[in-house]
This record gives sequence, C-alpha cells and structure tokens, in this order.
Amino acid sequence: MNSYFTKLDIPLDVEAVFTDPTALLCNGEYLKQQKYGLALLRKKAFTSVPNRSYVASAEDTQRIISQLPTRLLDIEIPKLWVLDMHAPAEEKEVMLAPHVDGVRVTAINIYRNTHGERTCFYRYAAGGKIEEVDSFVAKDGDIWLMDVSKPHAVELKPGKNRRVLTISFISTPYEVVRDALT
Ligand SMILES: [Fe+2]
Repeated sequence: MNSYFTKLDIPLDVEAVFTDPTALLCNGEYLKQQKYGLALLRKKAFTSVPNRSYVASAEDTQRIISQLPTRLLDIEIPKLWVLDMHAPAEEKEVMLAPHVDGVRVTAINIYRNTHGERTCFYRYAAGGKIEEVDSFVAKDGDIWLMDVSKPHAVELKPGKNRRVLTISFISTPYEVVRDALT
C-alpha cells in the first residue's frame, strides 16, 4: 500500500447519478497547464487539456454521501462532483497535466467512462522537479481513494471522453479517510 492512492472495495450504489454534466453547475476548471506541469513538459511532449468539475444534484449528493460510514461523516461531510475530461482526437499524447487539487485534499473517485487512462502520482525531487512514484489504471465501476494534495496527472486517450464521479474532502487528510473506510 502506498501513501498516494488505494483501490476501495466498498459498496456504493451510484446508479443513474451520471447526469449530463452540461446540465450541472460548473464548479471549477483546471487550465491546460498547471504549476507542477513544468518539470514534466521538459521531459515529454504532450498536449494538456482542461478538466472541468461540476456540482452533482442535491438528490444525488444526499443519496451517495449517506452510503458512507458514519464514522467518516462525523469527521467531514464531503461534496459530490462530476469530473469531465475531453481529449481531442487529433492529439496522440494528451493528458491532464500534473497538478495538485487546490480546493480539496482527498478524493474518492467512482469511474464511469474509462478507456485505459493512467493516473500518475509524483513526488517533489531536488531542483524543484517532480518525479513519478506510482500509477494506476482504473476501470469502469472501480472506486479509488486518492491523496489529491500530492501532484498527479492523467494520461488520456485521444478522442475519448473520461467521466468520473468524485467525492471530495476539503480538509480531511487521505490517511484519515482511508482509515475510516478500510
Ligand atoms: Fe486532480
């Protein structure tokens, strides 16, 4: 087990939650190139795409969040967002550039539309650079817990849209959420 992410084996009924994001309230957007993308840009040629998040409906939020253990909800009531990433078909190497999530520290991702994309995590190295430490490939229906306060990126598939339902903890650290879930 690393300190960046772990696959969760918990039951979460998310049936009919994945509303068309364009009908939802846009919550935020990571631009094409984030602060921590600079080191990687020097090593590898890729096209970076924006990543948009949307606020899930109140009904969906209540239904999903209430399935989490009480001992976790006693610490923090998380938010529920939908993440949407669109990879242009004409780009061979396309990714959500390395970044840290500025508005949350821990995420539980429930994957819906996946195409073998690799989620990579990095650590800070000498000289202000970042280096990859580990990665995983999520499949549709998988649930993964991640420390999004650490630099991470997603290698996307050209022409494929990726959609993730994501439970967001604004202030509860990864280890605390993990211990409450496992
Ligand atoms: Fe992120």
